[in-house]
Amino acid sequence: MARTLIPLLIILFLCCCYASVVEASKKASRKYMKYKDATLPVEVRIQDLLKRMTLAEKIGQMAQVERENMTAHIVKKYKIGKLLMPLNTYLHVHASAALIDPHKSLWRREGALRTRLGIPLIYGIDAVHGHNYADPELVKRIGAATTLEVRATGMRYAFAPCIALDSLAKGVATIMASYSSVNGVKMHANYNLLTRYLKHKLGFKAFIIFDYPGIDKITYPEHKNYTYSLQASILAGIDMVMIPYNYTEFINGVTNLVKKGVIPMSRIDDAVTRILRVKFTMGLFENPLGNYKLAHKVGCKTIEWQGLGGNNLTSGTTILKAIESTVDKTTQVVYKEKPDENFVKKNNFSHAMVVVGEVPYAETRGDNQNLTLPAPRPETIKNICGLVKCVVIVVSGHPLVIERYLESIAALVAAWLPRK
Ligand SMILES: *[C@@H]1O[C@H](CO)[C@@H](O)[C@H](O)[C@H]1NC(C)=O
Ligand SMILES: *[C@@H]1O[C@H](CO)[C@@H](O)[C@H](O)[C@H]1NC(C)=O
Ligand SMILES: *[C@@H]1O[C@H](CO)[C@@H](O)[C@H](O)[C@H]1NC(C)=O
Ligand SMILES: *[C@@H]1O[C@H](CO)[C@@H](O)[C@H](O)[C@H]1NC(C)=O
Ligand SMILES: *[C@@H]1O[C@H](CO)[C@@H](O)[C@H](O)[C@H]1NC(C)=O
Ligand SMILES: *[C@@H]1O[C@H](CO)[C@@H](O)[C@H](O)[C@H]1NC(C)=O
Repeated sequence: MARTLIPLLIILFLCCCYASVVEASKKASRKYMKYKDATLPVEVRIQDLLKRMTLAEKIGQMAQVERENMTAHIVKKYKIGKLLMPLNTYLHVHASAALIDPHKSLWRREGALRTRLGIPLIYGIDAVHGHNYADPELVKRIGAATTLEVRATGMRYAFAPCIALDSLAKGVATIMASYSSVNGVKMHANYNLLTRYLKHKLGFKAFIIFDYPGIDKITYPEHKNYTYSLQASILAGIDMVMIPYNYTEFINGVTNLVKKGVIPMSRIDDAVTRILRVKFTMGLFENPLGNYKLAHKVGCKTIEWQGLGGNNLTSGTTILKAIESTVDKTTQVVYKEKPDENFVKKNNFSHAMVVVGEVPYAETRGDNQNLTLPAPRPETIKNICGLVKCVVIVVSGHPLVIERYLESIAALVAAWLPRK
């Protein structure tokens, strides 16, 4: 009994020694790592961190996923680099406390920060959908209000295409505008043009990310050949991919392309360098979580992201009120919604103003394949303008085809849906 116990104890003792040596050396290496030293120049920290990273850790940094699918375990396992606020949340709520990470950054604290290298996540949002639907009286302060609300919800990054377009050269604006093309070949050419322009001509040092499953759309139909999408976009200079859901497909796909030598390691290192540069510059390594002290500031007067009509949410006046307050006292103004021919025939109108158009919308929800006026507006124009001299006011979010009505119209005003 004693004989067997002694060697066992020795083995155990050796194990303990070994374990404590490993712990000690881990502690020693934890003690000082250049990349964790905020006093060192960012470029030195980046190089130090980059050389410690495995391929999987690098590819994880290039992945942005929807928070909806995330758990601390997934963030940790796949070394995810960036999270996006889920679409559902900001579609259905006003910018409010509901946007605040309910677990106070569980994913960042228990996920990313517990990885081998502890590289913090960036948590981002399309703030144009969720945070900045402030009343137009806030228009002048909209940038400040959006910034405040983004920070207060613990997010450190917002997609800001408008700002990018305003501050960059016209050439980039043109290229970006043509992204909406569904022509895959053209889009691919544009990736190359845009990234070359940004990175080489303008010396753009930040990273370039694609919007939503943007890279899937290089092929037609969408996502037909994801391998090709990954290859074409990353080789063209896209540094981070908004996946947004199937992160394993992204990680496996990029890993295979690197292993096959299709995407050179130098391109991966360039992408990761740019991403890390942003994280270091933002101070994320020192302050990886949000500034929740601002949480009470969330929830400025807001409008739905698709806009709303027929209510008092915005300042300004209605077209009817503007007409009533402008015309001569002797002029009688009669208002009727969707008037038919009989209504016009029964009255002795001298003139008619027909106000038609579209309801408010944003992004794809406003897509209109034929640019026609939605029903029953064409009927209304026909009913009224055929019987009485009329002015047509078109309130729309994009140009609409109105030629066919022009003959019966005395005057036409293209008014636009109000913008923030
Ligand atoms: C998908 O794209 C890759 C990379 O360009 C190519 O090698 C492969 O043949 C394509 N697969 C199909 C099914 O077209
Ligand atoms: C992510 O979440 C969405 C919505 O809950 C779900 O439809 C989708 O299947 C999930 N994707 C993955 C990869 O888990
Ligand atoms: C993710 O992509 C892989 C590879 O294309 C596929 O097998 C898997 O079903 C996808 N997962 C989801 C949740 O769509
Ligand atoms: C809109 O607001 C004004 C002033 O606050 C109020 O007088 C009016 O009744 C409101 N109209 C509606 C339809 O709520
Ligand atoms: C209709 O209006 C015109 C002036 O706009 C007036 O001369 C005419 O008498 C009116 N007719 C009726 C039936 O009220
Ligand atoms: C035009 O497109 C819209 C949606 O894009 C559709 O609702 C409408 O029916 C179409 N109209 C015609 C005349 O095709």
